[in-house]
Amino acid sequence: MDRYVVIGNPVAHSRSPEIHARFARQTGEALQYERLEAPRDGFGAAAHAFFLGGGRGANVTLPFKADAFAFASQLTPRARLAGAVNTLAARDDGILGDNTDGAGLVADLKGNLGLALAGARVLLVGAGGAAHGVVAPLLVERPARLVIANRTSARARELAARFSALGPVEGTGLESVRGPFDLVVNATSSSTHGESLALPDGVLAPGVVAYDMAYGPSAEPFLARARAAGAAANDGLGMLVEQAAESFLLWRGKRPATAPVIAALRAS
Ligand code: ATR
Repeated sequence: MDRYVVIGNPVAHSRSPEIHARFARQTGEALQYERLEAPRDGFGAAAHAFFLGGGRGANVTLPFKADAFAFASQLTPRARLAGAVNTLAARDDGILGDNTDGAGLVADLKGNLGLALAGARVLLVGAGGAAHGVVAPLLVERPARLVIANRTSARARELAARFSALGPVEGTGLESVRGPFDLVVNATSSSTHGESLALPDGVLAPGVVAYDMAYGPSAEPFLARARAAGAAANDGLGMLVEQAAESFLLWRGKRPATAPVIAALRAS
């Protein structure tokens, strides 16, 4: 049976095995999907051993997306743009690296939440690994403006400069953010560290859609704040399922229906 894994550290919490098991059942594909915890300094060795042993594909999660970018022998254009890889696929002539995170976010925003991104004023909070992968896919949707705001403003400005050829993107410090925005996406790791996010008052307000790329307890501080300010609040569970569906498509040539899987995960 074709074997797939999600590689991370830690990886015990990953919901990817459950998602891909549901995709496999739904599409009638016979495959095995497991978790693989690699040592923090041992991604390359773990991935090499997995593919040498006949593994067909891998999802890559924190903290290994940059390692996977270096490991892949070929890259899709969107992985090259993101500078990070979350999906590896065995090919006859090597290992292909792809990045489905941005497509997953856009699919969730447009397809599941019904948001119009064309002409929207979008604020992306954070300029780390999670933010990198979604800038180009957001700009492709032709927002009126995309502001990247980060605690360390230089990182936001650098990230914006990298993508300035693709659309109206600017980088700034968190405290200098000026709205109004239609959509505010949290791509920081502040709540993972149990810290608060110094977003100016008024950015989250009625009529604003707030979105946290994390899900579960990690998303809650930002979403609770959004709700308290009267904004609509959405976690990143839909993005997780959508990026998985894009990976499944790359591996199996079939894109599973995501809505029933999102509903099942929410219910469990
Ligand atoms: P990831 O891959 O999860 O994005 P990362 O590359 O370490 O991890 O980036 C973490 C992001 O969260 C950064 O944008 C970071 O801001 P800095 O660049 O200023 O470090 C942001 N972040 C983490 N804790 C934060 C906090 N308490 N307030 C605001 N931003 C925070």
